[in-house]
Amino acid sequence: MRKKIVAGNWKMNNDLQQTEALLDDLIANTPETIAKIVVAPSFVSLTTAVAKTHGTNIIVAAQNMHQAESGAYTGEVSVNMLKSAKVNTVILGHSERRAYFGETNALLAKKVDTSLAHGLTVIFCFGEELADRQSGNHFNVVESQLREGLFHIAQSGWDSVVLAYEPVWAIGTGETASPEQAQEMHAFIRNLISEAVSPAVAEETSILYGGSVKPDNAAEIFGKPDVDGGLIGGAALKAADFLAIVNGIQ
Ligand code: 13P
Repeated sequence: MRKKIVAGNWKMNNDLQQTEALLDDLIANTPETIAKIVVAPSFVSLTTAVAKTHGTNIIVAAQNMHQAESGAYTGEVSVNMLKSAKVNTVILGHSERRAYFGETNALLAKKVDTSLAHGLTVIFCFGEELADRQSGNHFNVVESQLREGLFHIAQSGWDSVVLAYEPVWAIGTGETASPEQAQEMHAFIRNLISEAVSPAVAEETSILYGGSVKPDNAAEIFGKPDVDGGLIGGAALKAADFLAIVNGIQ
């Protein structure tokens, strides 16, 4: 059965001390849950986060990674650096990386390849902008992002892929997709995977929703049959809110 996952993308928030404090709070208060819990602090805090969460059911992920193995890429972080820090999960393709750092589908395809070649799990983000939804182009945009960034991988690679549909207009805006809009897009995505890869892979792939998920809307969104959890931004920065969202997984 495909996994239920609630992941917190902390973005450029929380220094080392704040990371420790938030993790202490999360660890002390984690409820019994069938969900896999993931947190993605900044690079600087990863080793501390890995040490702190050792022996708990919290998985630590990175928010990004360079596509090259090593070399003259000042300021970047490689897959082996993550692995050496015992970080085995990476978020790729977040809309903020696409919008502010020029990450294209073609570049993301390379990052995906490097991650999978080294055995990392990839949380692959994608989603349309407001104008795409308003013009009715949202399914086309999402399909292109998936076909150009991800669908080239070998069938075996899908075991290590989690999808995160994050409509850009719902990120940090307080305006969430309705549960029906989320379900409609998730069903579309699952159908695409079924046709492009296989029905079995489509059935087994977790598809998370992201964009203004809060304690008061999580359960309804997660209750939809093709929504397997969430990628949480703002509400992941407060332990009580994040754990309430985790509790939205039934
Ligand atoms: P918000 O939950 O703050 O809308 O952010 C969603 C997100 O971008 C998670 O990656």
